[in-house]
Amino acid sequence: MYNKKTTLALAGFVGLALSGIAGAADMHTQVIAATCMSCHGPGGNSVGAAPGIAGISQDRFVKAMQDYKTGKRPGTVMLKLAGGYTDAEIEAMGAYFATLK
Ligand code: HEC
Repeated sequence: MYNKKTTLALAGFVGLALSGIAGAADMHTQVIAATCMSCHGPGGNSVGAAPGIAGISQDRFVKAMQDYKTGKRPGTVMLKLAGGYTDAEIEAMGAYFATLK
C-alpha cells in the first residue's frame, strides 16, 4: 500500500515530468519545425546542402525568415517557403531552434 511518503514522492515526480513538457516547444511548433529538418538535418544539424540552423539565435532566425519572406535576402527554396508561416510561427520556431544544439 502507498504511505504518505510514497504519495508525496510520486506527486513530486509527476510535477517534474509536467514542468519538463511545459518547457519544450508546443506540439504545433515541433510539427512544423520537423518539416524543416528534411533539408536542414535532424534537429537542425545539417548533413547536406542546406545550412545548419540548430542553435542560431532567435533574432538571427527571425531576421532570416522575414528577409526571405520579403525577398530582401537571396535564396533558392527559402524564398518560396518562408511566406507560408505566420510571424508568430516564425518566432516560435526561432525560439525552438535556438534551444537545439
Ligand atoms: C527543400 C529544402 C529546405 C527546406 C524544407 C527548408 N529549408 Fe531552410 N534553407 C534551405 C536552403 C537551401 C537554404 C540556403 C538559402 C537558400 O538557398 O534558400 C536555407 C536557409 C535557411 C535559413 C538561413 C540559415 C542561415 O544560416 O542564415 C534559415 C533560418 C532556414 N533556412 C530556416 C528554415 C525553416 C524554419 C524551415 C522550415 C519551415 C526550412 N528552412 C525548410 C533549404 C530548406
